[in-house]
Amino acid sequence: MPNSITITKKIKKFNKVISVAGDKSISIRWVLFSSLAEGVSKAKNLLISEDVLAAIKTIRKLGIKVKIQKKNECKVYGKGIDGYFYKKNLTINAQNSGTLGRLILGLLVNTPNQIKLIGDKSLSKRDFKRITDPLKKFGAKFQLTNKKCLPLTINGSSRLSPIKYIETLGSAQCKSAVIFAGMRTRGTTIIKAKKSRNHTELLCKYLNLPVSVKKYKNYEIIKVKKVKKINKLNYTIPSDISSSAFFIVLTILSKNSKLVIKNVNINSTRIGIVSILKMMGAKIKLKNKKIYKGEKKADIKIESTSKIKAINCPVSLNSSAIDEFLVIFLVAAKANGISSFKDLSELNQKESPRLKWGAKILNMMGIKTKLTKSSIKIFGNPSLILKKKIKIKDFLKDHRIFMTAVVAALSFGGSWEIHDKDSINSSFPDFLNILRKLNK
Ligand code: S3P
Repeated sequence: MPNSITITKKIKKFNKVISVAGDKSISIRWVLFSSLAEGVSKAKNLLISEDVLAAIKTIRKLGIKVKIQKKNECKVYGKGIDGYFYKKNLTINAQNSGTLGRLILGLLVNTPNQIKLIGDKSLSKRDFKRITDPLKKFGAKFQLTNKKCLPLTINGSSRLSPIKYIETLGSAQCKSAVIFAGMRTRGTTIIKAKKSRNHTELLCKYLNLPVSVKKYKNYEIIKVKKVKKINKLNYTIPSDISSSAFFIVLTILSKNSKLVIKNVNINSTRIGIVSILKMMGAKIKLKNKKIYKGEKKADIKIESTSKIKAINCPVSLNSSAIDEFLVIFLVAAKANGISSFKDLSELNQKESPRLKWGAKILNMMGIKTKLTKSSIKIFGNPSLILKKKIKIKDFLKDHRIFMTAVVAALSFGGSWEIHDKDSINSSFPDFLNILRKLNK
């Protein structure tokens, strides 16, 4: 089977109701929390993708039994907060997942045996010093390749001390790893964190763990005490706004189309895309809002939008749209005027350097951009129709690059050859199947 796809036609108009897979961040956190719980935790609508399967393989290696059942259901047989049991010289492979690679280190700060952490080509280029630095202060020891990257080894400590940590990147992965390490440490760990997604904190609250959060305008103070017991956690994972983003943008850019995406997580730390696209004139509504175990969810209703306004994107929305900028850039490509996005250096720290790739894809489409290390200006063209051949390859198998390119091809026309189709398996294996249903 070839691992690339060719798209030569725009999508036909559609009017459909769809569901997308479970949220990746919440799925991985459910697996990790359940691995520490006492008793059998059950999940429904768990995302069964390579990133989440890597988390499941990891906890299995740490001695925890897991049963994956049909229809995205899963059972984790937790043995309590100190229930990990594993052989010496263990190697954990986080594969493509920054979330798994970073969060698991927080849970391993007390490991009595050395553990090696490895990842795939993309993860091995990413910065792990950002998380080993604070975890060292607890008392764990690390050895990193090139002082910054995977593979690394961790030697835990039985005498951990609580830390004070100032998180300045707006990284939920760093914040969450420190919360996990604080849960293993006597005393109070204090985190001052720039705003970022808060699924870990919401799960702590739902589970009644000794973790408190005080919100201020631009930051939060989180206090974490040692956790003695975690109750089993039955949970239905809401659908992923980051996966929904590709269909939201496809609908906006298509002609005379309508779409409803059911039961999507609309946590306020995640729905920056909705605010940004609405500012650009998009027709998006959130219906049937509900709260489930601390997380908000809703059905998202989208309609095609013919007149798109350029935007000066408020930096205050950056963290809540961090995984969605590539597709947002496609909307800016069709806007009437120049859009500007600033303070986005973190985008180049993802599975691939996404700010650079965003510009590269737009330039291949004939859209002018002005790129710096942390910002991009996009010179929109409302009458953009592509006729040329475009080839997208060598993007470190970044799932979001692949899906963005597919949305561009189906929205703007031209003849596209897009490589590394199997990259979607890390976050959204059903992406192409759902597209086929829309295009029937
Ligand atoms: C994630 C946090 C974000 C995000 C990633 C998932 C998480 O990364 O980009 O896809 O689940 O905590 P950073 O923490 O590096 O910003």
